[in-house]
Amino acid sequence: MNNPSVGADVDRSYLLSRQYRDSKKLEARAHLHRRYGRGGQGNWFEWIARHAALPAGSQVLDIGCGPGWLWEQGKDGFPFGLSLTLADLSPGMVTDAVRAAQGAGHYARVEGVVADASKLPFADESFDAVLACHMLYHVPDARVALSEFKRVLRPGGILAVTTNLEGNMAPFYELGAAAFGGNASDPGADIFGLRKAESLISEQFNPVEMFEYPGELAVTSAPDIVLALTSFPPGDSADDAAVERLVDLVEAALEQGGGTIVMPKVQGMVRASRQAASKNSVTDVEDPRSQAT
Ligand SMILES: C[S@@+](CC[C@H](N)C(=O)[O-])C[C@H]1O[C@@H](n2cnc3c(N)ncnc32)[C@H](O)[C@@H]1O
Repeated sequence: MNNPSVGADVDRSYLLSRQYRDSKKLEARAHLHRRYGRGGQGNWFEWIARHAALPAGSQVLDIGCGPGWLWEQGKDGFPFGLSLTLADLSPGMVTDAVRAAQGAGHYARVEGVVADASKLPFADESFDAVLACHMLYHVPDARVALSEFKRVLRPGGILAVTTNLEGNMAPFYELGAAAFGGNASDPGADIFGLRKAESLISEQFNPVEMFEYPGELAVTSAPDIVLALTSFPPGDSADDAAVERLVDLVEAALEQGGGTIVMPKVQGMVRASRQAASKNSVTDVEDPRSQAT
């Protein structure tokens, strides 16, 4: 299945050369969450760590690791002694992630690898767990990447995938669409939302569980919203007139909300296992020819 988006969200050269060459654009959006997040279930990265529930000593692949915030900010939720392979399409992200994870002083081993989720450079059954956090909406065919995750997992290994839910941060995306055109919804959730993730993962993994992390953002600064909305398409190539239009719209929305724009923040995790080999697997079935007389 191809993702419905054929735009920049899955355009490898755009992702590498502009969106994720380094963590600046991602940081503009993360800042909104860090500064204005409330409610929810505590720190997002610790929440991921707790729900991934990795056994101590696991060999873990984090694909699409970004700047490695999970391993730094979520470390208290992980057991000691994990062995980490941090992989990303972007060499700049891999460098930052390795530095962040090593700085955390919590892991037995940290290695960085430049890699594409659709064609992983790892042998079959080399990991106890694969994490793919907020990245499968960038992959042209999520089924291909999921089958790669399954291939590199040992039987009984854990897959943890995070993404956004439909409706995530609706007022934010509506402001962007009013200023720049395009969709008035979260492109990540449109392409690979949590429910779609659950259904695609269920095709290849068993058992599968889904966890939601509901929260909200209460944003009080127009420049912070403008910075975030101009960090990804179409806002990242908007002309001055469109950006000024956005500033006016954000200021009007803030005034209407008494100085605050409240946005639902809905994201979550699908956690699944690669089934251990069953007694009835092909190799265990007795060859009927051996019974021939
Ligand atoms: C939204 S960021 C998420 C970063 C991190 N996992 C997190 O949750 O903070 C998406 C990351 O996926 C990476 N990425 C995009 N397409 C990829 C692919 N096909 N294979 C590996 N990494 C990819 C990007 O370079 C970027 O670092």
